Amino acid sequence: MENLDLKRLPKHVAIIMDGNGRWAQEQGQDRLFGHYHGVVSVRKVVEAAAEIGIEFLTLYAFSTENWDRPEAEVTGLMTLFVDTIAKEVPDLHKNNIKLSFIGNLDMLPTSAKQALADATAQTAQNTGLTLIIALSYSSRWELVEATKKIAQKVQNGQLSTDQITEATISENLTTSAFPDPELMIRTSGECRISNFLLYQLAYSELYFTDTRWPEFRKADLVKALLDYQSRERRFGKTSAQVQIDV
Ligand code: IPE
Ligand code: IPE
Ligand code: MG
Repeated sequence: MENLDLKRLPKHVAIIMDGNGRWAQEQGQDRLFGHYHGVVSVRKVVEAAAEIGIEFLTLYAFSTENWDRPEAEVTGLMTLFVDTIAKEVPDLHKNNIKLSFIGNLDMLPTSAKQALADATAQTAQNTGLTLIIALSYSSRWELVEATKKIAQKVQNGQLSTDQITEATISENLTTSAFPDPELMIRTSGECRISNFLLYQLAYSELYFTDTRWPEFRKADLVKALLDYQSRERRFGKTSAQVQIDV
């Protein structure tokens, strides 16, 4: 953490936690073994983010497309989510962490829906790190839902077509309460977005690491933050303009 500039931290970090299955298979274990170890990384990274002073942390835990995995893996993951939430919420609450879930939560089994609702309600008043878990989430699903909501408002006469701006879209996404992530990290060497926060990542810095998610620790997060701090964010301007603005 030594060289980290605490005044220039991203407010919001989003992570695609990838590589659990390969990590497990590389050691002759089944894929679920990797998911169980992935939970340890979640705990460590949440602790580290809170300690460093990140305000919002979004973790991509399960995509809409992941429903197409073998049934045993999907069932195993759902059990793991419910058990992990039940086990971790007391500590998260003690650490003033506020939990939030985004995604097509209607698709989840009842036990998971109940666990998410309880965790959200229990931590709603907390003022520390906001931990957002993307579950049964896909960005295209989210954009379709936002479009429907906006269309409905136009149809009801609450909004005219001319009044639709970029902010209207942001306000109708599941992430409306959070700022856009300044930094997006993906583990395991894959360099793609996989239907994650397409609108919100428009100007995020992207960081890809070969480290598999079950091996990702605080030091890896710090490395990503240092890399982020070494970049010049130009937002379409020239380097000279950006340096005058600073
Ligand atoms: C990420 O790890 C966790 C989920 C998508 C649920 P993977 O399960 O995708 O692991 P790999 O990519 O197959 O190694
Ligand atoms: C993306 O990982 C989703 C999550 C990490 C939850 P995947 O492993 O499902 O992505 P692809 O299929 O390799 O793009
Ligand atoms: Mg994967």
